[in-house]
Amino acid sequence: MTTTPRRHTVEHVARPRTAGAGLDVFAVEDRGAQLVWSSLPAGPVSIAVDGPGGRSTAMQVEHAGGPGAVELTGLRPGSRHVVEVRAGGERRRRAFRTQPAPPGEELFRFATLNDLHLGREEVREASAEHRRSRGRPTRPAPPTPLDMARDALTDALDWGAASIVVKGDVCDQSYDRFWDQAAALFGGVDVPVHMLPGNHDTGSKRLVEPEVAAKARGLHLARDVEHVDLPGLRVVLVESGIPGNGWGRMTRHADEVADLAADAAAGGSGTFVATHHQPQRFRVPLYWPHGTPGPDAMRFAGALGAATPHAVVSSGHTHRCRVRRVAGVPWSEVGATNHFPATWAGYRVFEGGLMQVVRRTARPRALAWSERSRSALGGVWALWATGTLSDRSFTLDWT
Ligand SMILES: [Fe+2]
Ligand SMILES: [Fe+2]
Repeated sequence: MTTTPRRHTVEHVARPRTAGAGLDVFAVEDRGAQLVWSSLPAGPVSIAVDGPGGRSTAMQVEHAGGPGAVELTGLRPGSRHVVEVRAGGERRRRAFRTQPAPPGEELFRFATLNDLHLGREEVREASAEHRRSRGRPTRPAPPTPLDMARDALTDALDWGAASIVVKGDVCDQSYDRFWDQAAALFGGVDVPVHMLPGNHDTGSKRLVEPEVAAKARGLHLARDVEHVDLPGLRVVLVESGIPGNGWGRMTRHADEVADLAADAAAGGSGTFVATHHQPQRFRVPLYWPHGTPGPDAMRFAGALGAATPHAVVSSGHTHRCRVRRVAGVPWSEVGATNHFPATWAGYRVFEGGLMQVVRRTARPRALAWSERSRSALGGVWALWATGTLSDRSFTLDWT
């Protein structure tokens, strides 16, 4: 990997309508894509993809009805394709563009999860109990956050993730019984799992310090700053929150992270900073939840960018998908696992760059629930949370 010109390339690919649409190309890689539909009738679904080399995909799947997802394969990198879906006498088409061929050989794959909110079902159950006590109807219980996280994790491992990074809000509150769920989720995973805390893990209601609870269960949760070296990439885990306080503050870690990034660059590796709070544009938040104030995020990203041209930051907390540059450094936000759009992020490390691809959890149970929660806030949530395809799928060219 070269360390010369400062040339981050966030490849902006197609920007189709992403929310409210019945058919959605949610994720694109160079040769594959994730196709999701909100509702199709039960029966056979025929799917065909046409690209520059002709028809690349033709398949028929037997569908049980409702939402569904399939992987489109054999696509041509950096090219426009059109997918056509036929089911129950209906025909729908979507155009999309694949990501360009990444630079160099692929070295490694890992995945991130964030905002699992394990234990959150207790809030829902209390609300349902309240409705029942007042004689009001209740809906069937949805999958728990643990169910949703387990499905996301299984999808990520099936995709080929050889390491998992969890970017905070592991538990809805730092209670032992919720950390028992974390142990049930990650205890049997045979790839390394690296966690950092979110504001919910270090909130004022916590009954146990998250790293203590994790350690008692054979897990590891980083406090302050820790790093892990993967092939071709240094992952730096940064605690963005202040215990007992919902705000993010990152400048306090800037010098340490910059030193780690410079050291990685000297060794020929890029740097991936995993953290929890998003960077606000300004000191004052313009939306909920508030994150790291703009000046603080700028100072942190500025120090990182000065240390290496080959860096990216990724956070959670907003439960939405976005990417933008902060002091020249790409900074992505990825949606939560536990409600619409119910996502996880895959990262492919190449000799000359890094590809991000945020996917929806596609297992039927998780997809059915996340589609149900699509209509939250009258559908405004779906528009806010999904971002665009280029917010979710992009390649950084570090050559
Ligand atoms: Fe969260
Ligand atoms: Fe959070």
